[in-house]
Amino acid sequence: MTKRSTAGSDHSPFAFVLFGGTGDLAMRKILPALFAAHRDGLLAADGRIVGVAQTALDTSGYLQWVREHVKPHIAGASIDDATWRSFLERIAYVQLDASQPETYSALRDALGTASGRRIFYLATGPALFVPICGALASAGLSEGSRIVLEKPLGYDLESSNAINDAVGQIFNEDQIYRIDHYLGKEAVQNLLALRFGNSLFEPLWRREWVESIQITVAEELGVEGRGNFYDQTGALRDMVQNHLLQLLSIIAMEPPGSMDADAVRDEKLRVLRALKPLPADEIRRSVVRGQYHPGAIKNTPVCAYHAEAGVRPGSTTETFVALKVEVENWRWAGVPFFLRTGKRLAGRVAEIVVNFRPVPHSALGPSALRPGSNRLTIRLQPNESIRLSALAKQPGMGMTLQGVHLDLAFDEFFQQDRMEAYERLLLDVIGGRLALFVRRDEQEAAWRWVAPIIEDWGTQASLPKPYASGTWGPAASSALLARHNTCWPEEEN
Ligand code: BG6
Repeated sequence: MTKRSTAGSDHSPFAFVLFGGTGDLAMRKILPALFAAHRDGLLAADGRIVGVAQTALDTSGYLQWVREHVKPHIAGASIDDATWRSFLERIAYVQLDASQPETYSALRDALGTASGRRIFYLATGPALFVPICGALASAGLSEGSRIVLEKPLGYDLESSNAINDAVGQIFNEDQIYRIDHYLGKEAVQNLLALRFGNSLFEPLWRREWVESIQITVAEELGVEGRGNFYDQTGALRDMVQNHLLQLLSIIAMEPPGSMDADAVRDEKLRVLRALKPLPADEIRRSVVRGQYHPGAIKNTPVCAYHAEAGVRPGSTTETFVALKVEVENWRWAGVPFFLRTGKRLAGRVAEIVVNFRPVPHSALGPSALRPGSNRLTIRLQPNESIRLSALAKQPGMGMTLQGVHLDLAFDEFFQQDRMEAYERLLLDVIGGRLALFVRRDEQEAAWRWVAPIIEDWGTQASLPKPYASGTWGPAASSALLARHNTCWPEEEN
């Protein structure tokens, strides 16, 4: 078994203060990730975790809550009692009203004068980001600290700028860690390794050889009790503006000079700024929005989006987006990037497909000209893998070509040694590494690019296209690709 690399782990003391300490994200992601880091021996012995919320609890009540609610979300083998106990010893709880600065003295007292880095993780709604930062500053807790902001950071360019301006009054950009958990996924890291650690792909990674690129992030889940939030958000804001555009920027970026945070983020920013703007007529042609209707997921009937709790009657919020975008630079001019994401689709899959051009002339007959015959598929989840598809001769007489695959399944090769996105990202915050966090200018560029789509949808009389749950989205998504003589991977053959 290959040992997991612990390069970059940092053993300086820290206090990790978790606002929204009894919330869904704390329960499902953040506390399980901190436990994993603790279990893996990657946290400093004197690293402390302080849960903060309005719920009336003391530390022992909070520990009970953690036992009941967090433990079931910890992945992997059974939890060793001694490791679990030593994890709980790190945790304390402070009850405060995040919007009331006068209540922060309790937090200041709990943090005391202990040395070490302070990290404030805001796993709360964005409406609390500015009040919390202001209250931390008034309580004298902001200086030298790090602040972690969860998405959604705003609702559009304007609201995200307002938050960034206000937070920026108190924290410098190098103290601000904007989370996009996709950047913490092992497979996304692997994309960087694949592109910049090998000489094999780089010469082909350009318009001369690439015909199109597809990025899919499909989910089987629906809105999962988040109907209220989701109905005001929709797939464009929830997934495209952040996760999908971040994936696109990593796929399309120029090789950075180093893996230094700003070297990487500068290159991603160049891509985001080079996204071809979409005028209204192009939005209507090249952006498809859909909404799920009743159907079945793994043979279990599921309801329509409209019937989900918290969704407004007649809501036009999209649960599916497919779109075509181009990157206007020398490397990519004219190459279509097709992005799609949706809830209640036929499968859970996140993958990037790089379609290379067919041979310019086939001495071997028409089978060598088949689109999609030379392709690299990078599967991010589930089962991270890289598949290289090529053509080979069918055995026997004649020269009939057939698609074959070269597969690299990372879990088989590295045998389970993977780290969950949140664990990596939290360790990066603690260690002060910013490369996997979104810089303000990147975020602005992404909002700026999606803004005309939001605006156009606000004025369109047409509704999102319906699709049955358990399918791959509305027919218009297939038609979009068909107009470019291509199709989504599941539509082949
Ligand atoms: C979150 C979105 O950012 O990403 C959710 O808010 C979505 O709606 C989730 O379900 C998907 O993340 P993952 O890691 O499960 O692909």
